[in-house]
Amino acid sequence: MDRLAITGGFRLEGQLPISGAKNAALPLMCASLLTKDTLTLSNLPHLADIKTLTMLLQGHGVETTSENDGRTVSFTTPNITNTVAPYDIVRKMRASILVLGPLLAREGEATVSLPGGCAIGNRPIDLHLKGFEAMGAKIELEEGYVRAVAPDGRLTGGKVHFPTVSVGATENILMAATLASGETVIENAAREPEIADLANCLNAMGAKIEGIGTRTLTVTGVETLHGTEYAVMPDRIEAGSYAIAAAMTRGELELMGDNLIEVMTGTVGVLKEAGVEFKETDGGVIVTLGSEKIKGVDVTTQPYPGFPTDMQAQLMAMMTLCDSASVINESIFENRFMHVPELCRMGADITMHGSTAIVRGVEQLLGAPVMATDLRASMSLVLAGLVADRQTFVNRIYHLDRGYERLVEKLSAVGAKITRDANLGI
Ligand code: UD1
Repeated sequence: MDRLAITGGFRLEGQLPISGAKNAALPLMCASLLTKDTLTLSNLPHLADIKTLTMLLQGHGVETTSENDGRTVSFTTPNITNTVAPYDIVRKMRASILVLGPLLAREGEATVSLPGGCAIGNRPIDLHLKGFEAMGAKIELEEGYVRAVAPDGRLTGGKVHFPTVSVGATENILMAATLASGETVIENAAREPEIADLANCLNAMGAKIEGIGTRTLTVTGVETLHGTEYAVMPDRIEAGSYAIAAAMTRGELELMGDNLIEVMTGTVGVLKEAGVEFKETDGGVIVTLGSEKIKGVDVTTQPYPGFPTDMQAQLMAMMTLCDSASVINESIFENRFMHVPELCRMGADITMHGSTAIVRGVEQLLGAPVMATDLRASMSLVLAGLVADRQTFVNRIYHLDRGYERLVEKLSAVGAKITRDANLGI
């Protein structure tokens, strides 16, 4: 397997383009199942997850044509040719569950493999299924698959109240509700910007969604949706990760992308407390460390607009060098501290108490061979490697390929010493 070799100690400086958001692109691609017409998405990132979902969609009858080096892709689904999402693809990427809502809404039935557990926790899909039931679907679980059927072939509007905020369940029900008969009210909806991106695209396709950006989404079902062209929003997690890279290396990066400060709300608030400064420019935002040392901050991960769980590992890497101590509480996923032992192997001082980590700042991290078991944990090790004494080797980098587009190229272009070694990792 490939690995990354990083020599720490180089200040990052220059412009760094932020890619389209993976977590916005995936549901938007699934929305193409809702119409016979063409949905053209631009600003798509080059990522393994995008390829995996494209394969899954093609299996359902989606025809794709791409231009602009694969950044603009047209998705056309004249007919749904297959309503079964197979285990072999779903197990690779949990977001595959997002085909369930659109398939059920358009065809009146869908069968999707249960995604199973994953490295950062159990991650059930009960909220998705209860939502579909509230819209009249009959759900059966058999042989590892969930089969959903809408009686008389069409979902009916209903009240869907989520006891817990779920990004994926909100997206799945939102897509399904666009073609249901009558009105659907989604209460305690997730408010992540990726949901607003999806809702705006659906409205451009002829859907009737109100309350975008709030906790309550009201959807009046329509008979059909039509095609449109839509640009995927910038990746706020990628931007937040590189903001931390700028601060940790005491560098100055101009992150290039639209509305970055706005979509990074929770992250920006916490990073400012840590001493990071943000200055908006015409094309993006300049990020520097304003204080002499990184300041310790206490943080609990929260749904948007709170501090995102997808930034927790990267923040922890930064806090390993803080002037005092930091308390980081993970409230979204139960098993999301797998980067802790690896950061400790690089000289960090972190103790864990259940879902809370206490990070005491050290003067210097030390390079080491490390590996991570999920995407954001892998990025925390890259960040640590950028400032560690001597070399760090990050193994299992297929996780990074799922979520950080051209990581080595982007970091090298702003001064990092980082290479990808083929077949040298474990
Ligand atoms: C999405 C993001 C992921 C991010 C997460 C939280 C995508 C493709 N992925 O994942 O990067 O970390 O939001 O911001 O957008 N839950 C249930 N039952 C369900 C669904 C969720 O109990 O049916 C729980 C989960 O176990 C978790 C919490 O709800 O504890 C939030 O999960 P959710 O928001 O659904 O995450 P994803 O949509 O899977």
